[in-house]
Parts: sequence; C-alpha cells; structure tokens
Amino acid sequence: MKIALGADHGGYELKRHLHGILEKWGHQVLNMGVDGPEAADYPDYARKVAQAVVGRQAERGVIICGSGVGASVAANKMPGIRAGLCHDTFSARQGVEDDDVNVLCMGARVIGSELAVEILKVWLNAEFSGLKRHVRRRDKVIAMEKEFSSRR
Ligand code: RB5
Repeated sequence: MKIALGADHGGYELKRHLHGILEKWGHQVLNMGVDGPEAADYPDYARKVAQAVVGRQAERGVIICGSGVGASVAANKMPGIRAGLCHDTFSARQGVEDDDVNVLCMGARVIGSELAVEILKVWLNAEFSGLKRHVRRRDKVIAMEKEFSSRR
C-alpha cells in the first residue's frame, strides 16, 4: 500500500521508526517530513499528508505529533479526510471497518513505539466493512462536510 507519513517535532522519532517498519512490511512510504527535532507546526505536516491522500498519491496517511490531537484536528479540516486519533488497537480496527478512516493519528508522547507499531498493523489490515448502516453514517459525515464548506 502507498502510505503518506508525516510528523511534527513531537513525532519525528516515532515517524522514523514507523517508516522503517512500514518498508519492512512491503509498503511504499511517501515521507512528508519533518525529519529532525527543530520546531515544526503540525498543521503543515497534516496538510501534506492529507493532500497526498485526497490527491490519491497515497491510499492512506499516518500523522504523528506529540499528542496526536493537533494532527487529527488539522487533518479533519481537509475535505475527503476521515482522520482517527487511535491509541488502542480496538479503535484502530473499528475506525476503519465502521468509519472508513483514511488517516491514522497517534501521539508519540502518549504511547510507546511498540504499541504504535501494533496499532499501525491492525489499522493497515482493517478494511471498511461496506455494511449499509456504516455507509449511511459515513455518507452523512461527507454530507456535513459538503454542506458546511459551501456556507463559508
Ligand atoms: C508540539 O509541542 C505539540 O503541541 C504537538 O506535537 C501536538 O501534540 C499537538 O497536538
């Protein structure tokens, strides 16, 4: 799978670790930065990852910041993005199966690298169920996005 991967300074070390793991698993990684400890604004990297997913350069995106909160807030501003902040494997799996999440956000200051790898694995192996009730709910979210972005 093609995966866009980004982080701010709070998440770049975990991003580097996950980059290696993803390649070991056979995925193609688009590295959207940041790659060092210098202060970086999470919206800039959330935007890059989200744009890669919306523009179909990547099938899914992963964004790491300190808490994962800023990354998910920013990514969810982008039409077409359904970003989920997941610090447990249940949410990671269900977020894809039920909610069709296409961007995974995690906080490097919240969870350890081994749990992050487990979450990433579960999330990548999950697929949207396509069940009628989940399609209906997802489509209501998409309708909200369309309705409110056209009112600006
Ligand atoms: C940066 O210090 C920190 O605020 C950021 O990584 C993230 O946690 C925001 O949600």
